[in-house]
Amino acid sequence: MILVTGGAGYIGSHLVMALLEQGKDVIVFDSLELGHMETIETLKKYGNLKFIKGNLKNLDDIRGVFMSNKNIESVVHFAAYSQVGESVKNPQKYYYNNVYGTLNLLNAMLEFGVKKIVFSSTAATYGEPVYTPIDEKHPQRPINPYGNSKLMVEKIMDDYDKAYGLKSVRLRYFNVAGADSEARIGEWHEPETHLIPNVLKATADKTFKMFGTDYDTVDGTCVRDYINVEDLAKAHIKALEYLNNGGETNYFNLGTKNGNSVKEVFAVCEKVKGQKIPLEICPRREGDPATLVADNSKAKNLLNWTPINSIEYSIQTAYQWEKALSKE
Ligand code: UFG
Repeated sequence: MILVTGGAGYIGSHLVMALLEQGKDVIVFDSLELGHMETIETLKKYGNLKFIKGNLKNLDDIRGVFMSNKNIESVVHFAAYSQVGESVKNPQKYYYNNVYGTLNLLNAMLEFGVKKIVFSSTAATYGEPVYTPIDEKHPQRPINPYGNSKLMVEKIMDDYDKAYGLKSVRLRYFNVAGADSEARIGEWHEPETHLIPNVLKATADKTFKMFGTDYDTVDGTCVRDYINVEDLAKAHIKALEYLNNGGETNYFNLGTKNGNSVKEVFAVCEKVKGQKIPLEICPRREGDPATLVADNSKAKNLLNWTPINSIEYSIQTAYQWEKALSKE
């Protein structure tokens, strides 16, 4: 049995779908503050899924999960807040949830003898890039509380390994994109802040705002490494296999090694939609580095993971999902 925290959210739900399709038994623990019950209902159609509503900030909620499910072998931990801008305005919310909540999870795991965890970390732990593409040796100097909260958890996990033998794999995501190939689940944030859904959702009344066209990049807009969410889910399965095979605590960048500018993404969205998308050029958004691209060689070599889906495919699936979501 695999416990997935935050399994009703965007990335977590895609891993749960992949696990269920492999015939694995899954427990999802989610507060539903940001995740959606509709996503759980959809996932339940594809395999043996048990859903438990609870909040990691309540130690008893998560202890209860382990107490009544003695067959949990490993944990994949997605549950977290992830908006950089919000974390700057309200660091308390981020440290309390992302750090304290994770401590409760880790302590409950130790109490019940569960010693394998795959953790959603982020490129935001690297901060402003010193070189590109970014490999795992790049200094980790976050520039916002969100990145700090994830880096703190990485450090806690190192110490918990040394002292208690808790093995972790930390997956540092770059920009996650796309949706389920059959549009059953997808990205569903309220409010939405991410590039691709915002471009796809734009209308004459709600134009797409392009933040900054004066960066030192190929066309003046920020360059990001867009990794397809189904490829990303597969990396989590590889990480679980790695831990099950006795792998040591480790960390991997998950990206494609290719960058795309905001203007390029916008052009692909127009192509996929087959229409002009209303665009407004705006000033830079605070805290956006010019370029973030992953060196993914370590994940390729050690996890035997290779992303296969293109950015066009991610945008096509995101568009199919947007259409399905607007019908709900
Ligand atoms: N952008 C726009 N308009 C929008 C939304 C985004 O122009 O409406 C631009 C941003 O300014 C940025 C790019 O599109 O240049 C990508 O922005 P996203 O908000 O989609 O993604 P970020 O790169 O800011 O953030 C993502 C994750 C974070 C994580 C970070 C780490 O959402 O959780 O990657 O690299 F911390």
